[in-house]
Amino acid sequence: MKIRFAGLEDAEDLFRWRTDPATMKFSLSEEKIELGSHLKWFRESLANKKRVIMIAELDGEKAGMVRFDETDDKSSVISIAVSPEMRGKGIGTELLGLGCSTYLKNWKNKTILATIKKINVISIKLFTRCGFKTRSEDDEKIVMGLDDEKTRD
Ligand SMILES: CC(C)(COP(=O)(O)OP(=O)(O)OC[C@H]1O[C@@H](n2cnc3c(N)ncnc32)[C@H](O)[C@@H]1OP(=O)(O)O)[C@@H](O)C(=O)NCCC(=O)NCCS
Repeated sequence: MKIRFAGLEDAEDLFRWRTDPATMKFSLSEEKIELGSHLKWFRESLANKKRVIMIAELDGEKAGMVRFDETDDKSSVISIAVSPEMRGKGIGTELLGLGCSTYLKNWKNKTILATIKKINVISIKLFTRCGFKTRSEDDEKIVMGLDDEKTRD
């Protein structure tokens, strides 16, 4: 798997992955997204220094995305999606591991946080397998975190 920064040429794939029914169901915001507002959001995202979007490619084919949003000087929030037709083949596991290690190596933040709906059991399994630990939870959501190894006690 290769991982690279997203560019404008990825706008439509990201839109397709973001609006697929499973992603919508498990997203924290289930609001319908139009292509126009997505393109505006994506252009702004590419210029946003506190946001990093990476694309995974397998044999030259786009397989998924991982996004990091810096929330303060210590932590960033992650979001991940695999191309719908490529799910369930271990791509999410590889992408999450590679994305987090690349991010922690190159940016100053030390903790990556994910907020996951409890009904999204595949994601909870995925983040657990990649070393994320539960930080807090309520009836609907669970917050999981991964600390940079260098800063772990
Ligand atoms: C969540 C997502 C990124 C996982 O990516 P993936 O490539 O499908 O995941 P993997 O194939 O690496 O599988 C991860 C784990 O889930 C399990 N799994 C995958 N698909 C499954 C399915 N349909 N049913 C049951 N378990 C499944 C795998 O067995 C694996 O568990 P294991 O580590 O115990 O073997 C992907 O399904 C996706 O894009 N979903 C929509 C968006 C989303 O939910 N994003 C996360 C929001 S927090």
